[in-house]
Amino acid sequence: MKGIILAGGKGTRLYPSTKAISKQLLPIFDKPLVYYPLSILMLASIKEVLIISTPYDIGDYEKLLGDGSELGMHFEYAVQEQPKGLAEAFLIGEKFIGKDSVCLILGDNVFYGPNMTRLLEKAINENEGATIFGYPVKDPTSFGVVEFDKNHNVVSIEEKPKEPKSNYAVPGLYFYNNDVIEIAKHVKPSKRGELEITSVNNEYLNRGKLKVKIFERGFAWLDTGTPDGMLKASNFVSTIQDRQGFYVSCIEEIAYRRGFIDLKKLEKLGNDLANTEYGQYILDLVKINKK
Ligand code: G1P
Repeated sequence: MKGIILAGGKGTRLYPSTKAISKQLLPIFDKPLVYYPLSILMLASIKEVLIISTPYDIGDYEKLLGDGSELGMHFEYAVQEQPKGLAEAFLIGEKFIGKDSVCLILGDNVFYGPNMTRLLEKAINENEGATIFGYPVKDPTSFGVVEFDKNHNVVSIEEKPKEPKSNYAVPGLYFYNNDVIEIAKHVKPSKRGELEITSVNNEYLNRGKLKVKIFERGFAWLDTGTPDGMLKASNFVSTIQDRQGFYVSCIEEIAYRRGFIDLKKLEKLGNDLANTEYGQYILDLVKINKK
C-alpha cells in the first residue's frame, strides 16, 4: 500500500502566520504538523509516501523530509498547482500509486489514540474498496458528514451540510483500493469548484464498497484549522508527552520500532538533534535498547 500526504492550500485561516510558510510546517508543540500524519502512515506500515503541496511550498517539504532513506522509507514529491480538491491527489499521484492500494491522509490532521497500529491494520485488512472513519464532533458543518439509517447503515456522506444529519464528521484519513484512480477521474467539480473526496466516497457507497469505521470516545482527532486549535493541539501533545514520557509522533522512534531502521541509524538521527529534548528522547531510547 502507498501513502499520500496532501499538504496544499493557502492556510488563509491562519494568516499572517502562514503568509510565508506552509501551514503543515508550523509546529504543533515540538515538531512540524506534517510529522503527525506521516507517523500515522508509518504506523500503518506504509513506507512509500508521496507528499503533495503547492508549487511555492513543495521545496520546503523536501528540505524537511528528504528522500526518506534516513527513516528507511521512500518519499516522493509532487505539486498541486491550484487547490482543486482532495480527490485530485489520485490524479496527481496516478503514476506513484501504480497498481497498488493507497492511503490518503491530510497534512493537517492529527490523530492520537490507543491501539492505533491495530486499528490501522484492521482497517487495511478488512478494506473491500474504501474505508473511511466517522468521529463525533459538536459542530460537523465544516466537514464531510455521515448519514446513517435506523440500523446504523451508512446512507450517504454530505460535504459541509448546513443541516447535518448526524454529528459524525469524516476525518482526513482514507483507505482505497486501486479503483480510486478511475473513480477520481470521473468526479465532477462541486459548487466550490473542487474535486471532493466526499464524491469519491459516495461513489464507493453506491458500489456497495464503502466501510465507515467509528473512532470511539477517548480517541483524539484534533483540529488545527485556527490559532486556537493549534494551541490546544500543542497543549494536548505537551501534556501527554510530559505525563507519560512517551512522545507523540516521533517519526524516528516509529521508524525504529517498526523495523524500518536499526539502532545505529536511530542513534545518528538522535545525534543530529542532540541540542533538543526531542533529540535527547531519541538518544535515551537508543540507550535503553542497547542494554
Ligand atoms: C476536507 C474534506 C472533508 C473532511 C475534512 C477533514 O475538508 O472535504 O470532507 O471532513 O477535510 O479534515 P476541507 O479541508 O476541504 O475543508
